[in-house]
Amino acid sequence: MNKVLKELKVELGERSYPIVIGQGLLGSYDLTPWVAGSQVMVVTNDTVGPLYLEKAIACFPGKKVDVVTLPDGEQYKDWQTLNLIFDGLLEQRHSRKTTLVALGGGVVGDMAGFAAASYQRGVPFIQIPTTLLSQVDSSVGGKTGINHPLGKNMVGAFHQPNIVLIDTDSLSTLPPREVSAGLAEVIKYGLIRDESFLTWLEANIDALIRTEPEALGEAIYRSCLCKAEVVAADEREGGLRAILNLGHTFGHAIETFAGYGNWLHGEAVGTGMLMASDLSLREGWISRADHERTVALIRRGNLPEQAPEGMTVEDFMSLMAVDKKNVDGKLRLVLMRALGDAFVTADVSERHLKDTLQGFTQ
Ligand code: NAD
Ligand code: GLY
Repeated sequence: MNKVLKELKVELGERSYPIVIGQGLLGSYDLTPWVAGSQVMVVTNDTVGPLYLEKAIACFPGKKVDVVTLPDGEQYKDWQTLNLIFDGLLEQRHSRKTTLVALGGGVVGDMAGFAAASYQRGVPFIQIPTTLLSQVDSSVGGKTGINHPLGKNMVGAFHQPNIVLIDTDSLSTLPPREVSAGLAEVIKYGLIRDESFLTWLEANIDALIRTEPEALGEAIYRSCLCKAEVVAADEREGGLRAILNLGHTFGHAIETFAGYGNWLHGEAVGTGMLMASDLSLREGWISRADHERTVALIRRGNLPEQAPEGMTVEDFMSLMAVDKKNVDGKLRLVLMRALGDAFVTADVSERHLKDTLQGFTQ
């Protein structure tokens, strides 16, 4: 059964695009209206391909569809693996009229998007995200890129997709740990911009953990709505968009320290948001009750609550020094003024920051 549950739009003038959320869309939804030429290159990985490639290809009737299959894992989000996409495009003689399709989680999406941004100076692309995290976050907003050994997502480009197609049925095969990682980004939207969504999450988080379709559809829709509004207001992160990075400065440091792929991105963001909440409390922005609400929700999402074993305050400080939000060598962090109200600040007491880092690194 093919059922569109919700549709919304990322409003970016002539680069606006729809996000279509539904059940049973893979295999039956016609994506050819978003393909200008006759060629399509699907980029996937060796986990998602066997599950959903055939169905994804069926969304492009009448088109010549080629496939590049990448090795699965955050540790492959690098130059060498990115080059496999260019190899495939050139070997199959793809022209600048080709359309790239990302079929997979955020790693595949970020890499296929970056390949689309740079192949022959830019070709169109389509996002078919298959993890909760990619459905609520990475497939929307046009950030693409790869990791560098010295920092997460340090090389990349802004390149918006033509359409994002979200089939919630694909989440039925997602391991529970990946569901929790996605929930971290869902919780993020409540914390940064929508306190009523937090209240909804408190009532529905168990249903989300059980991957109940109705709850998932609603959580994905509200998350995409929040992200679409922020991206429409500040596509290139001149200001507001940075709030989408709540917990990410701490989280990226954790991911880099642990070695890409050892901590899931969403797990690191979950712990990072706890750290941001703790620091917001120490700075006198949020109340203890607000902080405890944040802790309780993240705990119910089955997310880790401490930094990796062996990670020190000094490790955090040196890894956070390469964060993209920093200006003139000064650390900038996303904190909360209240639940549902995040902001960016460079004005944080060094003592409070050290206390927070110490509290999470025993
Ligand atoms: P991921 O892409 O590694 O996917 C997680 C795992 O689930 C992988 O093993 C994948 O093969 C597997 N998988 C994917 N779909 C599946 C399915 N339906 N059934 C079973 N297994 C499935 O990780 P992710 O959490 O989706 O994305 C994390 C990445 O996204 C990070 O690299 C992060 O930096 C990036 N990210 C980017 C943005 C952005 O705005 N561009 C935002 C957030 C995160
Ligand atoms: N995930 C952060 C952003 O898209 O800006």
